[in-house]
Amino acid sequence: MNRTINDNGQLLIGGIPAQDIAEAYGTPLYVYDVDRIRTNARAFVQTFKQHEIPAQVAYASKAFSSIAMLQVAKEEGLSLDVVSEGELHTALEAEFPVEKIHMHGNNKSLDELDMAVDAGIGCIVVDNFYEIALLSDLVEKKNTKMDVLLRVTPGIEAHTHDYILTGQEDSKFGFDLSSGQAEQAYKLLHDSERIHVKGLHCHIGSQIFETSGFTLATQKLFATMNDWREKFQFTAEVLNLGGGFGIQYTEEDDPLALDQYAFALIEEVKRQSTNMGYPMPEIWIEPGRAIVGDAGVTLYTLGAIKDIPGIRTYVSVDGGMTDNIRPALYQAKYDAVLANRMNESRSREYAIAGKCCESGDMLLWDVELPEVEHNDLLAVFSTGAYGYSMANNYNRFGKAAVVFIENGMHQLVVRRENFQEVTRLDLTYNKQEN
Ligand code: LLP
Repeated sequence: MNRTINDNGQLLIGGIPAQDIAEAYGTPLYVYDVDRIRTNARAFVQTFKQHEIPAQVAYASKAFSSIAMLQVAKEEGLSLDVVSEGELHTALEAEFPVEKIHMHGNNKSLDELDMAVDAGIGCIVVDNFYEIALLSDLVEKKNTKMDVLLRVTPGIEAHTHDYILTGQEDSKFGFDLSSGQAEQAYKLLHDSERIHVKGLHCHIGSQIFETSGFTLATQKLFATMNDWREKFQFTAEVLNLGGGFGIQYTEEDDPLALDQYAFALIEEVKRQSTNMGYPMPEIWIEPGRAIVGDAGVTLYTLGAIKDIPGIRTYVSVDGGMTDNIRPALYQAKYDAVLANRMNESRSREYAIAGKCCESGDMLLWDVELPEVEHNDLLAVFSTGAYGYSMANNYNRFGKAAVVFIENGMHQLVVRRENFQEVTRLDLTYNKQEN
């Protein structure tokens, strides 16, 4: 992995010593190299441009949503995928162009749909029959129209290097293709004068390293589109193939370059549309992790060191599962370094523990570092996706701050939550006597 160091053996993030950033804002701290976010976004956007393929690259804001992040996404010409009122609200606060916002969710509430329709977002990705009923009523009452995509489950579940093929997908999301539910959903929407089906959507998984799952999904969706063209004279204007493009967390991960994922999709969509004589649809994708994952580093200060001779040495940091729940939740692996002593050899193995009252609160089970000391600065790489966005207040720790680095400057973009703010929603209980 590509890491830059200065002459004093300090890790540089966006050209600035990690230590300086930690001193300015404290730890734990999420630090983003904004240039990297832009490079990632451009890899997708440019590939579609180069091949003259009409496309929308929608940043899946669940990976990391904040006003500053959405400002960058807007500047890069991305569209946006939101899944809740909160994510939509953040987008509106960031003045994200509403027509480029798409809303997801397997249980959108009436309030969420209402907010989306009122805001005039570009499209809603319809997920289930209940939502069709709610949305149909809503647009009728409001005397308005809405564009939708139909989310279908093609029976392909992809993870990293392999995918699982099932006739019927066991998933809480979307309409099943094989049982005819997707077709039933289409017919319901087809009859509506106020809801316009722009196309189909599928999302086959996350952290995917191969293109075969995507090409298979493309084939399945084209088969359905072709079938519906004959049956209902429906021509999909849009084919949304979701997100899930994998990134490198450790040396063991071997993802493709982002433009290769995009190119593979372009090739397959072209092939299918040529073979079937189907008008080329717009290709939409929804990368989250691939845009922000490797742009983020988390900085921690080392505290307690507990050596259990012959077993392992635990080194505790000032954060943990409250700022990065992925190791505890998915056994996710990361790489880390001592950011203040990059030129020393990694001579000892350590287990990096969080400070939550929970044995499972471990960030890394085995990482080689130089001999550690209290107050050393630990940098954990590739924490830009699903770190801050999944942060929580377990043990009533406040959420860590977020800093953006660009053009050699650092700037706070999410303030640290202090412990007084942790009780801001609490109300005192006044026992009522009856
Ligand atoms: N589109 C849809 C419909 C999705 O459900 C997701 C992720 C994405 C796009 C973006 O996927 P990405 O490109 O980021 O892989 N918390 C987990 C990941 C959950 C992903 C959920 N859906 C993690 O930390 O790995």
